[in-house]
Amino acid sequence: MNILSLDDFSVEEVNEILDSANEFANGKEVDYKGKKVVANLFFEPSTRTHYSFEKAALNLNCKTMNFDESNSSTKKGETLYDTVKVFDMLGVDAVVIRHTQNAYYNELVGKLKAPILNAGDGTGNHPSQSLLDLLTIKREFGKFEGLKVVIVGDIKHSRVAHSNIKIMERLGMTVYTSGPEEYKEEGFNYVELDKIISEVDIVMLLRVQHERHESLMKLSLEEYHKNYGLNMERVNKMREKAIIMHPAPFNRGVEIADDVVECKKSRIFEQMRNGVFVRMAMIYKAIEE
Ligand code: CP
Repeated sequence: MNILSLDDFSVEEVNEILDSANEFANGKEVDYKGKKVVANLFFEPSTRTHYSFEKAALNLNCKTMNFDESNSSTKKGETLYDTVKVFDMLGVDAVVIRHTQNAYYNELVGKLKAPILNAGDGTGNHPSQSLLDLLTIKREFGKFEGLKVVIVGDIKHSRVAHSNIKIMERLGMTVYTSGPEEYKEEGFNYVELDKIISEVDIVMLLRVQHERHESLMKLSLEEYHKNYGLNMERVNKMREKAIIMHPAPFNRGVEIADDVVECKKSRIFEQMRNGVFVRMAMIYKAIEE
């Protein structure tokens, strides 16, 4: 089965994927004995998502193929569909795809034998990131209902925010957004960070995405850090049991101070660890269902 957006899954189904990921975290083993092949097709740079899908596949004893876009026939004008179709015809058992185009998968769905695992589409969705964020929250608090989160930064262009806001609200969490006016998206519960920071259970920071829209931001990076960045002064105002999350990569000294990255409340590296278990659950579900 395809995993494209968490919108396609009920709350019960999302919890089932998280339970499966938790089983992998607790040592469950699945061994495909090298008979299944997972192809990673990244048309946009990635470290965490690419290599944790790779590690997840290896943990399940799948073989992997890693598409190198920079040396591929896309340089001769081959389209996304024609490129992905090659891997389908080669007989892979799942394709993991990241692409700059929102909902790129709409042109692929129903035309491939291999299931598609969306590793991020433009500013649209990042379901594996949402799932690893949710697993981190569930392992920390044991529940979603009643938790409060503030997501800080470029809400408008963030696929992480877009995926997370919808599923977190469906799971019974209260989601606030915060950040510069130019990154605000209508329809979300916008608040000033300093007014909400002492009330939330989770402060989730987003990366300032220089490569997408540097010219959009009216503030200097120093001003961004002063107004919206998480420094130790703000961390000290957080609830005792509150945690800090960031999908990474992070800009030290911009959205997060250097000394906050690995402070006691930070779960940023734990999120990366959980990413492998979530992606094992996704590959397993995609192949088996
Ligand atoms: N969080 C995330 O998607 O990181 P990468 O871009 O490194 O995959």
